[in-house]
Amino acid sequence: MMPLLHIDDLWVAYNGRGPNQPVQNMLHGISLSIQRGERVAIIGESGAGKSLLTMAIINLLQEGAFIRQGKIEFEDQVLNQLTPEALRLIRGRRIGMVFQDPMTNLNPLLTIEQQLVQCIRSHRRISYQDARTIALHKLRLVHIPAPESRLLQYPHQLSAGQRQRVTIAMALSLEPALIIADEPTSALDVTMQAEIMHLLNHLCQSNGVALLFVSHDLGLVAQHTDRSLIMYAGRIVEDGPTASLINDAQHPYTQGLIKALPQHSRPGSRLYQIPGQMPLPQQVGPGCAFAPRCPYTTERCLQQIPAPQGPGGHQASCHLLASDAAGDSHMGHTGGSL
Ligand SMILES: Nc1ncnc2c1ncn2[C@@H]1O[C@H](COP(=O)(O)OP(=O)(O)O)[C@@H](O)[C@H]1O
Ligand SMILES: [Mg+2]
Repeated sequence: MMPLLHIDDLWVAYNGRGPNQPVQNMLHGISLSIQRGERVAIIGESGAGKSLLTMAIINLLQEGAFIRQGKIEFEDQVLNQLTPEALRLIRGRRIGMVFQDPMTNLNPLLTIEQQLVQCIRSHRRISYQDARTIALHKLRLVHIPAPESRLLQYPHQLSAGQRQRVTIAMALSLEPALIIADEPTSALDVTMQAEIMHLLNHLCQSNGVALLFVSHDLGLVAQHTDRSLIMYAGRIVEDGPTASLINDAQHPYTQGLIKALPQHSRPGSRLYQIPGQMPLPQQVGPGCAFAPRCPYTTERCLQQIPAPQGPGGHQASCHLLASDAAGDSHMGHTGGSL
């Protein structure tokens, strides 16, 4: 089956700051596919390049950043070859966006009704009243209490959680095939995080909408996504069904992330942290990006970029998993069910 979204060997770079400064590679050969209705998580520490990836998909890269190589296919179109106008139509109509800060999507000067109606009518030729009816229906779907009176309010009159619900309603209002949610709950408290996560998950599942969910929190996505990709310093290091990834992590970095989950520390003991720091994507040496922090590093890891290993469906880029590697002692079971 043709995937809904297919990214093949995507390289994104920043222009050097001065005329003689070299171009800096930020995303290093990212490949991923999302099937219709599938829920996929991208997990990575701050600075791993997650937002850069989502911005590259919808062609909203900042000034100075550009796609150096690769192909982004969505519903039979190559997104990175479309005109800005064609892309604007896809963004919104076929791909909905939810950001960490709801005000990225909301205009503080418009009422909820005005912005929802405007958004719907910018993509569909329908009357104001019909658009308002759709807006009201979507507000009900995201469980906004008293939606009729909410329509008349301005964003600042809503709580942070309700503002995020409105942006989810907005993302859904045009019947998209894919919603990209970039850390949509990171600014919310823990209870609200779980509610919004549940809501996104439920709405995508019941409407057959695919979800690309970006987070720094592997624990948050465990029950809510079908597949997860682990990102490190601008590379994908592991990709597999979320359950398999958590119960049987293959990459030493993923194993470290799992060990660091609060569920895995004894009460009263300090949380485990992977020693060291993630390098900037452009500052990685010639070999594996994780090698400087990895407990299993060999000479080969420092010299040579590892290729994805493993059966189709669950792959990790680590030399120690290669069939020609001597021994596979580190493949022990460090995961555990959540
Ligand atoms: N204008 C810029 N010029 C050069 N590097 C940048 C610029 N903006 C962001 N970066 C770098 O791009 C990398 C990826 O950032 P980002 O995609 O925002 O990461 P994430 O969303 O995973 O936290 C970071 O290392 C960041 O420092
Ligand atoms: Mg980000």
